[in-house]
Amino acid sequence: MFYPEDTIEEVRMRNDIVDVISGYVKLQKKGSNYFGLCPFHNEKSPSFSVSPQKQMYYCFGCGAGGNAITFVMEYENYTFLEAVKLLADRAGIRLPEAEDSPEERQKSHKRSRILEANKLAANYFYYQLRHPQGKAGYEYFKNRALSDDTIRRFGLGYANKASNDLYQYLKSKGYEDSLLKETGLVTIEERGAYDKFWNRVMFPIMDVNSRVVGFGGRVMGSGEPKYLNSPETLVFDKSRNLYGLNYARTSRENYILLCEGYMDVIAMHQAGFTHAVASLGTAFTPQHALLLKRYTQQVVLTYDSDGAGVKAALRAIPILKEAGIFTKVLSMKPYKDPDEFVKNMGADAFRERIAQAQNSFLFEVDVLKRDFQLDDPEQKTKFYHGVAEKLLEFGEALERDNFIHAVSQAQGIPYEDLRRLVNQLGARLIGRPRSAAYGGRREAGKKKEKEDGIRKPQRLLLTWLIERPVLFDKIDGIIGVDDFIEPLYRQVAEMVFAGHKQGKVNPAEILNHFIQDEEQYKEVAALFHARLEESLDSGGQNKAFSEVVYRVKKNSLDYASRNAADIGELQKIIREQAALKTLSITID
Ligand code: GTP
Ligand code: MN
Repeated sequence: MFYPEDTIEEVRMRNDIVDVISGYVKLQKKGSNYFGLCPFHNEKSPSFSVSPQKQMYYCFGCGAGGNAITFVMEYENYTFLEAVKLLADRAGIRLPEAEDSPEERQKSHKRSRILEANKLAANYFYYQLRHPQGKAGYEYFKNRALSDDTIRRFGLGYANKASNDLYQYLKSKGYEDSLLKETGLVTIEERGAYDKFWNRVMFPIMDVNSRVVGFGGRVMGSGEPKYLNSPETLVFDKSRNLYGLNYARTSRENYILLCEGYMDVIAMHQAGFTHAVASLGTAFTPQHALLLKRYTQQVVLTYDSDGAGVKAALRAIPILKEAGIFTKVLSMKPYKDPDEFVKNMGADAFRERIAQAQNSFLFEVDVLKRDFQLDDPEQKTKFYHGVAEKLLEFGEALERDNFIHAVSQAQGIPYEDLRRLVNQLGARLIGRPRSAAYGGRREAGKKKEKEDGIRKPQRLLLTWLIERPVLFDKIDGIIGVDDFIEPLYRQVAEMVFAGHKQGKVNPAEILNHFIQDEEQYKEVAALFHARLEESLDSGGQNKAFSEVVYRVKKNSLDYASRNAADIGELQKIIREQAALKTLSITID
């Protein structure tokens, strides 16, 4: 869907960014800007800034940045359109009937048809389960102690043994092959169409609004794969969906139980723990964590007690921490998973386990301990060193000390000794960059470096021009819009140069043009907030600026020479390359 650009710009202009953000974040004025705690990452001292002049926000901690519209998109997890609507309402602007671009209209139409088809499919599977042809499936669920209520609540179903009856059914409801393909429910080949799910019990996957976005299907008994899941589609993004969240979000508990699988969630809900969710078939992602963060501050991990479950927990803990979620880990022993636990021990015993759940840091230390043979003094020392190093993760002295206490108690390490060890290690590590200590990221770094050699100067030059419009005069005749060879920067340059000609560069307005693409607007937003080397003296600044101009021009000429159409053009470029060597620019 799409509104005319001036409508969007009006919505943006009529919503002062400081007012909008103040509704969500406590801001304090410092100089000409406002500062607060960043809502997009977990921090203790404010690095989130809002500029009334630019009508933009930027976090120096995590790099989040944008204008009033992107803020609402990010914070509320809204689409562009939803954010525009909210802000229009807020400013009392009546939006015209949305004028869709043909592509957008098509896409949103397709999305809603996929959702409809999914819903029909879910009903179909449910119907099968409750009829003679679905007996095997129904018995399977009954054997797993699910009640009829639970089956209904989760819309559980059965995909029967016919090879394409769902396909025929959906076809009879008017869905064409091309759409059915995109639901992921059927495969269509030359030889015919087949249902993806065959002879399996079915779990519809619902989003937070209880719309069916995909399916999981389990074999009854043994067979591979145990669970078959829908592929990602226009409506199904695995890394942003949590099974059971549509119910868990309305639960009154102030924490969420995070488990591994469908059956765990269902068994938990049936036992009265309606605040259980699971990430399905994929590892827990940062997007999952942010989704959870919208509903809770605390998670109790109820992953399987086997090796895979522990591993998955160790991966999820830092992700949750990064999102600012406090995490505890529940022990299911001697059972494998929550499903088995409640079946054998009942809900009350599970509630007790929740109360005993272990702080995730202490859990990590316990897991670490398994790598060492503590009756060997050398190994024991190594373990202590490992623990001390881990304790250094806490940047805040008081918090660190609390954990030194807790660990010393839990592991029987004398408090004073542990504290001293942590401090020694800390002193040794000071000045050593984190990356050096952890290593590993080098390869990716190299590629990025090369790419950055081209992009970075363009980025910096744009920042200089935005921050100090007088510099336009200095580059007149040397740098033009065409010298920005990175397509995204070229687009921005066009608007910045045009704005300058008209007397004012308007960052928040420029950003509007990129707002529908998350990666793009983030990059553009960063341009308006990069910090120039203010600390340099004027000689240093001159040097930095002329270096940037030189780099941009040189890259642009090199690029042009690789793409020259004929000898004449090439000769011209070579002359310019030679002239560039004597380039001299000063800021003042
Ligand atoms: P039950 O054996 O039915 O109790 O299931 P479970 O949830 O205990 O299964 P398990 O612990 O083996 O797996 C946890 C979750 O991982 C499942 O709920 C699925 O979402 C996913 N999963 C398990 N096996 C497979 C598989 O073979 N393929 C895919 N794609 N996902 C799987
Ligand atoms: Mn299980």
